[in-house]
Amino acid sequence: MANKEKRILFSSEEIDKRNIELGEEISKDYEGKKLVAISLLRGSFIFASDLVRNISIPVEIDFLTTSSYGDQEETSGNVEIVTDIRSDIEGRDVLIIDDIMDSGYTMQYVIEHLKKKNPSSIKTAVMLDKPSRRKVDLKPDYIGFSIPDVFIVGYGLNYGDYYRNIPYIFTFD
Ligand code: IMP
Ligand code: MG
Repeated sequence: MANKEKRILFSSEEIDKRNIELGEEISKDYEGKKLVAISLLRGSFIFASDLVRNISIPVEIDFLTTSSYGDQEETSGNVEIVTDIRSDIEGRDVLIIDDIMDSGYTMQYVIEHLKKKNPSSIKTAVMLDKPSRRKVDLKPDYIGFSIPDVFIVGYGLNYGDYYRNIPYIFTFD
């Protein structure tokens, strides 16, 4: 893959613009609520940090690490919580933030896990959505961009151990 041609799907300017819009929408929807944003590591660390800086209402931020893809491009469906959140989310409004929803297995697992902690609501935000790949009945509440079935990298998304730091979203042709 590394010696293939890079094709940029979303530039960092396009990403910034979309984050401003999403932040405004979320701030409006959660006005007066007790929002806790939960960033799924490692993939969403960049998106989450950009998104929360565009949210203008008070927001508590926590992190949850799930078992990752490793070097493979396909998810197994065997999701595991590696490190749980630290905050008490009982009676709180939770927004789960991930880089991408692909099969949806990760998000479904995390939702079920967090429901046991009795939050008053749970919604999801992803920078990228690949609806054609879905294996479970789940649709993100906030979506940066919807994309076809292409393997993408950059903006937090990895291939192998690399590319998470690239500030735009691209694929290898
Ligand atoms: P899901 O459980 O199949 O929905 O996959 C979620 C996780 O798979 C994401 O948080 C990513 O870490 C990873 N993933 C899915 N699609 C891609 C991709 O195109 N590039 C890089 N990582 C991906
Ligand atoms: Mg990943």
